[in-house]
Amino acid sequence: MKIVNVVLLLCLSVTRAQGDHTGGPENDAKHSLGEPGPAGGCVSDGAILTELRALRDMVADQRVQLSGQVEEMRRDNAALEARLNLSEHHVEELKAENEGRPKVAFYTALTNSGHVGPFNTETPLVYSKVFTNIGNAYSPVTGVFTAPVRGVYYIRFTALGYSSPRTVAGVTMFKNDLQIMHNGVYNTDGQHKFVVNAVTVELEQGDKIMMRLPSGYGLYDDISNYTTFSGFLLFPM
Ligand SMILES: *[C@@H]1O[C@H](CO)[C@@H](O)[C@H](O)[C@H]1NC(C)=O
Ligand SMILES: *[C@@H]1O[C@H](CO)[C@@H](O)[C@H](O)[C@H]1NC(C)=O
Repeated sequence: MKIVNVVLLLCLSVTRAQGDHTGGPENDAKHSLGEPGPAGGCVSDGAILTELRALRDMVADQRVQLSGQVEEMRRDNAALEARLNLSEHHVEELKAENEGRPKVAFYTALTNSGHVGPFNTETPLVYSKVFTNIGNAYSPVTGVFTAPVRGVYYIRFTALGYSSPRTVAGVTMFKNDLQIMHNGVYNTDGQHKFVVNAVTVELEQGDKIMMRLPSGYGLYDDISNYTTFSGFLLFPM
């Protein structure tokens, strides 16, 4: 409707310009405007009407086009919102899953007091320096790690044998009463010997992992943390 008003105003101002003056440059203006109407003014009524109708049709066309575009945008928006909702839902799910996931990790070392063993019998090793014990699954009293949940665990050890007197260095790992690993090394040259290894093991809730010193074996540890026992829950099952 604004366009129509502009056309009418334009028409009226031209008419006034022509009526107010005579002669001179105004006559030229009159000629350049083409056919003067019977009222000495504007383009003919018929032409204006045609022009207005064309404008009206154009506006109507554009309105139809615009409403189509708006509808399309609305659909796009709804699709985006649905995807966003889905993503938010997934994030919430992951967050809940992560928060509910038990956190289990421990890192210990045997002692600061040097030689341990050899003994006449197999002896439980109690790692007394507890540096990390998330979830409190390792007991520094018994030296036993107890699985708080069913899952796959990664358990590892390092063990240092001492150089003198010459003893065999090594440890045995137990799952409950079952031996699951034995590693040892003979000291043939009077040098310190290291044994390190790890297992990836499935544990039921309450299963126990412990290290034992075989009869006749000797280990060494001091503030350097040579002889360690550590592990973590890889994932629950
Ligand atoms: C997206 O989630 C909001 C708030 O939960 C809800 O009002 C809206 O209807 C959802 N939209 C879609 C497309 O699911
Ligand atoms: C032994 O381990 C603890 C804990 O990680 C650390 O603070 C300490 O410095 C370690 N000792 C040596 C000599 O590396």
